[in-house]
Amino acid sequence: MSKKKVLVTGGAGFIGGNFVQYMVSKYPDYDIYNLDLLTYAGDLTKHRDNETMENYHFIKADIANRDTIIPLFEKVKFDYVVHFAAESHVDRSITDPGVFVQTNVLGTQVLLDASKHVGVTKFVHVSTDEVYGELDFDPTTFFTEETPLQPNSPYSASKAASDLLVRAYHETYNLPINITRCSNNYGPYHFPEKLIPLTISRVLNDEKVPVYGDGKNIRDWLHVIDHCSAIDLVLHEGLNGEVYNVGGHNERTNLEVVKTIISTLGKSEDLIEFVKDRLGHDKRYAIDPAKLEQLGWKPTYTFETGIAQTIQWYLDNKEWWEQIISGDYQNYFENQYKLNR
Ligand code: NAD
Ligand code: DAU
Repeated sequence: MSKKKVLVTGGAGFIGGNFVQYMVSKYPDYDIYNLDLLTYAGDLTKHRDNETMENYHFIKADIANRDTIIPLFEKVKFDYVVHFAAESHVDRSITDPGVFVQTNVLGTQVLLDASKHVGVTKFVHVSTDEVYGELDFDPTTFFTEETPLQPNSPYSASKAASDLLVRAYHETYNLPINITRCSNNYGPYHFPEKLIPLTISRVLNDEKVPVYGDGKNIRDWLHVIDHCSAIDLVLHEGLNGEVYNVGGHNERTNLEVVKTIISTLGKSEDLIEFVKDRLGHDKRYAIDPAKLEQLGWKPTYTFETGIAQTIQWYLDNKEWWEQIISGDYQNYFENQYKLNR
């Protein structure tokens, strides 16, 4: 039997990178192709070990470049596509929405055309709970797969547009698809523009941590490895055309998250600095994962075990995040900080 060929887009980023590592070691009989443009968020040093593996391949390309993508699909004839590549940071989408439409909407459409053209076995579109908009603070309400799409930021609007295109390619052309909508991830190799790695890296350097608004907004946190196992399950067992929400019931206010990190690292809460709120800041996200659980998925981390593992990882891998925050990131952070003051 010939080896299955799996295209992972955005495999140099945070979740895609963890997923590539997970797949390369779990499925030695699959060929894993990591396709990534290596934007500011892409980094290949995380794949040093994979580079020695025969089943790992890297392709530098832009998903929105039709002239590269279509011939690539014709040549390699991928069986599966797992699509992570995106502009992923809400704050950046507020200051510069255009690239979010280009990559997240047009890029997804090019991949769908290429997948239809060669007839892939399954296209898994990795989306987000942010497409549902926000919930209020009533702890008995959750996002289900039936919740209407009501995205509030340019980022989530571009993701919702791509979800609808994926759905339309299934309805119109019978493309075999699944869409996953996961809550906030954290874990190794998380880019330090996002709340958890930003807090860990700044607290370790005794720098102030900007908390937006009153810090009472709630996110539902999932360790990245539990997201990877969910996507693996959906790729192999997901019913054609279905949407699956992914989340582990780990709701925390932002302030609780920041305080947990500060106390684990034995630092002072004086490092917390309340700053101006994010524009259009969604109040609360919370996922009902019942449909995915019925398919057989179970997370392995609680928030407590996951955050402890993650903090330890940042302590053990200072070289990785120091190299990131010493580059262009510094300008980004200072500009962002100015906007929030
Ligand atoms: P990330 O920003 O860490 O990584 C994105 C990757 O995509 C980078 O490696 C980047 O170089 C690549 N990329 C960007 N534009 C590209 C293009 N035009 N062509 C090819 N590659 C390109 O993102 P992440 O946090 O790992 O998120 C991955 C996916 O998961 C996204 O689709 C995001 O919407 C979704 N998601 C993220 C979370 C989260 O908490 N981070 C939760 C749910 C869903
Ligand atoms: O819910 C899934 C989404 O989670 C993904 O689709 C996005 O790609 C991912 O970036 C993430 O979006 P958020 O906006 O929720 O994540 P972020 O880490 O940017 O912010 C988390 C919360 O922390 C949010 O309420 C804003 C707040 N925050 C964030 C930063 C960067 C702060 O208070 N201070 C900060 O400096």
